[in-house]
Amino acid sequence: MIKQNIIGFFDSGVGGTSIWKEMIQILPHENTIYLADSINAPYGKKTREEIILLSEKNTEFLLNKGCKMIVVACNTATTNAISHLREKYKIPFIGIEPAIKPAALHTKTNNVGILATQGTLSSELFAITSQEFASNIDVCEQEGKGLVELIESNQLESNDMQNLLVKYLEPMQKANIDYLILGCTHYSYLIPQIKEIIGNKVTIIDSGFAVSKQIKKILEKNKGLNSQNRQGNYQFYSNKNIEIIHSLLAEIPFELEIKQEQF
Ligand code: DGL
Repeated sequence: MIKQNIIGFFDSGVGGTSIWKEMIQILPHENTIYLADSINAPYGKKTREEIILLSEKNTEFLLNKGCKMIVVACNTATTNAISHLREKYKIPFIGIEPAIKPAALHTKTNNVGILATQGTLSSELFAITSQEFASNIDVCEQEGKGLVELIESNQLESNDMQNLLVKYLEPMQKANIDYLILGCTHYSYLIPQIKEIIGNKVTIIDSGFAVSKQIKKILEKNKGLNSQNRQGNYQFYSNKNIEIIHSLLAEIPFELEIKQEQF
């Protein structure tokens, strides 16, 4: 039985707030603490050992705040560290990894694209999933080098962003992809820009909603849903610039506590 009533989230920065936004839609009574380890972003360039150490640090911060469950709201940390976290700590962990399976099942052109970090694309978990579900199709893998840094510095609409996206997506279009998997939680914030480039014929797969449903399912299974009837309490901690969190969550109509703190 899960006792405390806070769900913890962590990411290398602000990307995982895209999952948090989905989650509060379907679980509005849950209290959450979100940790943005922006000072250490991007995780995608780090070694597996470094990603594990950072994930442990984030987990322990959230456990000290009394979290009952942790959402690893980062593909890079999930694919490199979640099995280690599950072995080491006793609470449930929910992760996010590139949605290869639905893309492989539905593609008509037999070509799908994936945009993810180097840390995710080179992980063992990604290799196993690709082998299991996508061995009969062509997967155009592209590292989104530089995208996380531009998002973290609030340059979503910049020319640099536009140029990088065109550079990464045009080869995929030439390869005739019909599905594009977003394998990094930060990239959800680029969906409008990506659509402008690839048009409506390519379906974008973003796993935020699926992860939120999984959070609900595990809480129900563990009888851990919060029984309060009021809107949840939402806290955010960043060890760098909190302006970007304010900006990305500007449309949220609830009270948010957003703090800068070293961790
Ligand atoms: N949001 C992280 C992910 O989903 C970004 C990784 C990074 O910091 O490079 O992979």
